[in-house]
Amino acid sequence: MDKNINISVKVWRQKGPREKGHFETYQLQNISQSASFLEMMDILNEQLIMEHKAPVAFDHDCREGICGMCSLYINGHPHGPDDSITTCQLHMRRFNDGDTITIEPWRSAGFPVIRDLMVDRSAYDKIIQAGGFVSVNTGGIPDANAIPISKKNADEAMDAAACIGCGACAAACKNGSAMLFVSAKVSQLALLPQGRIEAARRAKAMVAKMDELGFGNCTNTRACEMECPKNVSVSHIARLNREYIVAKCRD
Ligand code: SF4
Ligand code: FES
Repeated sequence: MDKNINISVKVWRQKGPREKGHFETYQLQNISQSASFLEMMDILNEQLIMEHKAPVAFDHDCREGICGMCSLYINGHPHGPDDSITTCQLHMRRFNDGDTITIEPWRSAGFPVIRDLMVDRSAYDKIIQAGGFVSVNTGGIPDANAIPISKKNADEAMDAAACIGCGACAAACKNGSAMLFVSAKVSQLALLPQGRIEAARRAKAMVAKMDELGFGNCTNTRACEMECPKNVSVSHIARLNREYIVAKCRD
């Protein structure tokens, strides 16, 4: 049964992108284990404001695992210690009375810190802008079964489409690689007839943009897959590599 706990939180504080950051430790009393992790952060900020201190800046929006905004590194794991959930879906019942919880921003060259726990993830938007779309005219809305797509392809495209662009994959990778994210977007479109036509151009453009923005190469350690809150499989990276090599051979 959930109870109230007393915890310490060790939080990364950084006033701006060019400022030096440091950890500060705060004590929180009587936190309900029914509270979400972000509700605990809200309570921390109310406490800081009451003490006339600057609240901790952190990103969030939907708070239901959809938008990919909540980018916190908790006790050494992107999105915290639980599998297959985002930070906003983590609850305080995962922690015990007396625990010290370390909270950091994404650590990746591709995601510079804006302030405290908030990072600039616009690099992923730029990769999408480079090719993560369908620009051919696909006509009006057809009947759902008018374009035959195999169940296997439909399922794999749907699994890839689950990616919410949170950035945990690059944050988890020791090389700061964005391959899991890029592969999910390439795979999702390459598997469907509407996206197939531009598949070669898309794979080349998105990989080129990823390299230009400073993301590293895939390390094959699968840390990205382990930490992805949407269970995106590294098999999509294999598909991206195939798509890319075939596209380059046709140049
Ligand atoms: S692949 Fe997973 S970890 Fe990477 S951006 Fe998509 S949802 Fe987040
Ligand atoms: S706040 Fe939207 S996924 Fe967490």
